[in-house]
Amino acid sequence: MTTVLVTGGAGFIGSHVVEELVERDYNVGVIDSLVSGDLSNLERVIDEIEFWRVDVQDPRGVETVFSEFEPDVVVHLAAQTNVRYSMRNPVADASVNVMGTLNLASLASRYEVERFVYASSGGAVYGEPQYLPVDEEHPTRPISSYGASKLAGEHYVRVYAEADGFDHVILRYANVYGPRQDPRGEAGVISIFLHRAARGEPLRVFGDGEQTRDFVFVRDVARVTADAVEKGRGVYNIGSGRETSVNEIVELVRKVTGRDVKVVYEDARAGEVRRIYLDITRARKELDFEPETDLEEGVKITWEWIKSNVP
Ligand SMILES: NC(=O)c1ccc[n+]([C@@H]2O[C@H](COP(=O)([O-])OP(=O)(O)OC[C@H]3O[C@@H](n4cnc5c(N)ncnc54)[C@H](O)[C@@H]3O)[C@@H](O)[C@H]2O)c1
Repeated sequence: MTTVLVTGGAGFIGSHVVEELVERDYNVGVIDSLVSGDLSNLERVIDEIEFWRVDVQDPRGVETVFSEFEPDVVVHLAAQTNVRYSMRNPVADASVNVMGTLNLASLASRYEVERFVYASSGGAVYGEPQYLPVDEEHPTRPISSYGASKLAGEHYVRVYAEADGFDHVILRYANVYGPRQDPRGEAGVISIFLHRAARGEPLRVFGDGEQTRDFVFVRDVARVTADAVEKGRGVYNIGSGRETSVNEIVELVRKVTGRDVKVVYEDARAGEVRRIYLDITRARKELDFEPETDLEEGVKITWEWIKSNVP
């Protein structure tokens, strides 16, 4: 049985990936420091996995896990994911995203793993798009410390994989949304809007709301991430391949919640790209990726989850 070690498995995307892998009968181990994730995210599968509360920056702690669990495949999702935090604390961001990744990639080499799957960010590594949709050949020119650290992580994974002969897959996720996404901090706009709608609070839109993003449902992301445990090589964009404005999200939130949600427009935020969406042709061809959940259906599922899980 293939053993898969998932870092960040108690987080938003990680917990869906773990569920998908358990369903496919992999032997799954999870490393998470629980800094932003929560064990309750894993409650459905906790009896079927092994869990270590370990920080990916801790070489000894992670090495103990490698020697006990002997993973065939590593799926590395643990990260500092807050863009604004990364600008204020670039060293702390890099410690997790660069040094943590380097630690895992070097242990993957030493313990002779077969594959390494790395969660990167299509929204952060390309910077301001020079053309749309953005494909994997688009220049990478991050405009945040988070983008720079995620991109550095990609390079370290590739360098180790090429030097030591293990396969590697880099998944550049677009804006992922769905159940369990934490609305605090800088999380996704869909989660923030739905939580505000649930509390009867107005939605805050920065700028004119015509900025666009590529929104992809978390279970579609979990499925393709689990597929990458067996197939693919190199870099793949993972999104919906569609462009949606924040104003369109506002309308969808009104429609799905059936509530007369108010909107306040505030000053645009510096350092955010105006428009972006991803070309997902390569993932379609090589990973058989097909985003199955359309935006309205995904927002409905997320709303139902918020209503039954958030007090
Ligand atoms: N959510 C998105 O839209 C999105 C988009 C692009 C890329 N990503 C990437 O996907 C991955 C998962 O993101 P998410 O949205 O699920 O975030 P999340 O914060 O919910 O999950 C991250 C998990 O990693 C854990 N973690 C953080 N630092 C750690 C450390 N030093 N050691 C061990 N565990 C640690 C956290 O406790 C958490 O469980 C990240 O690598 C992120 O960069 C996310």
